[in-house]
Amino acid sequence: MQFKHKNLLGLEELSSGEIELILDTADNFKEVSERVIKKVPALRGITIANLFYEPSTRTKISFELAEKRLSADIVNFSKATSSVTKGESLRDTAENIEAMKVDIVVMRHGSSGAHKFLSEFLNASIVNAGDGQHEHPTQALLDMLTLRQRWGTLMGKKVTIIGDIMHSRVARSNIWGLTKMGVKVTICGPPTMMPAEVASMGEGGVKVEYDLRKAIADADAINILRIQLERQKSKLFPSFREYFAVFGISSDILKNVQKDCIIMHPGPMNRGVEISQEVADGERSVILPQVTNGVAVRMAVLFLIAGGRSGETKIRKG
Ligand code: CP
Repeated sequence: MQFKHKNLLGLEELSSGEIELILDTADNFKEVSERVIKKVPALRGITIANLFYEPSTRTKISFELAEKRLSADIVNFSKATSSVTKGESLRDTAENIEAMKVDIVVMRHGSSGAHKFLSEFLNASIVNAGDGQHEHPTQALLDMLTLRQRWGTLMGKKVTIIGDIMHSRVARSNIWGLTKMGVKVTICGPPTMMPAEVASMGEGGVKVEYDLRKAIADADAINILRIQLERQKSKLFPSFREYFAVFGISSDILKNVQKDCIIMHPGPMNRGVEISQEVADGERSVILPQVTNGVAVRMAVLFLIAGGRSGETKIRKG
């Protein structure tokens, strides 16, 4: 299996074999971060620009660490300190950065489809670090790596995703990725935050369940999402207290789930809103291992996008 894509725009466009290849490659790269000298020369000579138009802690830092551990040359751009504040467009910004001979652009942007738009005219490869409400492919890949490490295989497992599905690019990428890998996905959250088309999303669709206890009863893993207030145009729930009472994951609600059911969260968490303190830090939680896996997954994605060759790697086009 070869990775033939120039860009990583989303998991919708990948096959199960390509997802498996990224996860296998990430498994191999995990060991690099355990070394005393956490570095390999795989991307020596490659220049990567990290363009973050939206705030980020985990994704931005783990991409930077991944790039440094692969020996790439990197430059960082943040909207607040750039000429975007003087009115420069996304296209002009990206074309100017590319004019400085950048090979790969890693970008987070608030507009769904911003990466697809740039991919129409950039020669550099584009890696999606989150676009609006559309996709966050490397988050779903690190989620799947965490699950595969726990279970050995994803095939036939059951994952329930809970929360603000409407505004969640993490949910969309997880739905695409998990269903392609043979996972049965259940979606749960307030009807006001449930997109109309959700049941038909992914490969073969997902189950939609509004009763939290039913949604998690037979889950092998529960992935809890943050309410994305920054993307909500109107108030979609009465109060945080009521949200927690109906959809919050507490120790009490977990009394009836499977013995080995694990708890995931992409972060950042709002403790006391979608997840209780005890659950976030409890023995079922794999939230920090997810973050650890983020570095290996991003190393794998960058390595495969760059063609998997060391030294004078040529980025594949098309
Ligand atoms: N999970 C995630 O995307 O976190 P950040 O916004 O901190 O990158």
